[in-house]
Amino acid sequence: MPSSSSSLIASLVGLLSASILTVQAGTVLWDGRFNDLSSSTDLDDWSWSNEVGPYQYYIHGDGPVTEYINLSAAYKNPADTASAQGAQLTLDDTAYWEGQTMRRTELIPQTTAAINEGTVWYHFSMMANATDFPSPYREHQICFFESHFTEMKAGWISGEAATSDGLLRWDVQSVTQWSTEFEAGVWYNIAYEINFTAGTVGFWYSTGGNDLVQTVAPMAASASSNGQDWHLGVLELPRGGYTDTDENLYFSGVYIESGSITTSVSGPGGEFCRLVARARFRAEHPWIR
Ligand SMILES: *[C@@H]1O[C@H](CO)[C@@H](O)[C@H](O)[C@H]1NC(C)=O
Ligand SMILES: *[C@@H]1O[C@H](CO)[C@@H](O)[C@H](O)[C@H]1NC(C)=O
Ligand SMILES: *[C@@H]1O[C@H](CO)[C@@H](O)[C@H](O)[C@H]1NC(C)=O
Repeated sequence: MPSSSSSLIASLVGLLSASILTVQAGTVLWDGRFNDLSSSTDLDDWSWSNEVGPYQYYIHGDGPVTEYINLSAAYKNPADTASAQGAQLTLDDTAYWEGQTMRRTELIPQTTAAINEGTVWYHFSMMANATDFPSPYREHQICFFESHFTEMKAGWISGEAATSDGLLRWDVQSVTQWSTEFEAGVWYNIAYEINFTAGTVGFWYSTGGNDLVQTVAPMAASASSNGQDWHLGVLELPRGGYTDTDENLYFSGVYIESGSITTSVSGPGGEFCRLVARARFRAEHPWIR
């Protein structure tokens, strides 16, 4: 290779490496972006005696995994280049877990990393489509911790005066702190900023390909977790007089980081990082084409 192009690559690598330090500031503690799974049936390999893969998969109906979760490139936020695919989580008329009256399809991080200590950011993007939109007549608890100190909600909230509710909400201890009209086909990008030491939680938010912005500053919350009680997915409360309809929610860009927040929807390890890695490899191995 002519030395001029070698040094061009070398300076490009230097330039890209310098900028990557500012782009990728956080440390990924746990990566739930589905990139390591070839299909949702991989989730079936997990059990309490064989804790493999990024997720615990046990909260679901009695059907096969493909009835409740499927993976596809069509199921991710297209602006998120770090995710190869996203997940479709389904509630159908069998999605009852162990005889409960609630429909539930949920995934829980499988990790021993310190995702429940200090300050951490829980990232995910979510979307619903018009044809299989979550019922506005029933309460949906989305991406919640067991103690519900932070969660998203959609649909009619139990006890509410109105009959239906079209909002997407962010709740702390079951009190709404932020809401927007829940629209079909819109990717909502979300990060919970949790300081487990201080007992606070804040809300970062954007839509589509826009960078996350701190929308609610950290506020007091009973933030606690055993490290395996954050539920990616949906729990729907029953309500008399309203029959089950099939509902889908789509999730992508799921990861937890510490240090500082990554605001780009592409997240850490995005296309930019792949380009840097490839440029560096080519510069160090000029004989490989
Ligand atoms: C998941 O994918 C399988 C195989 O393509 C398909 O048979 C099944 O209907 C899909 N499930 C849902 C809920 O869309
Ligand atoms: C959502 O609906 C649109 C319009 O019907 C369709 O083109 C798209 O494939 C759907 N997306 C998913 C993830 O099902
Ligand atoms: C989290 O809270 C602790 C205790 O109040 C504080 O010392 C620490 O600086 C906070 N972390 C961040 C990143 O703000």
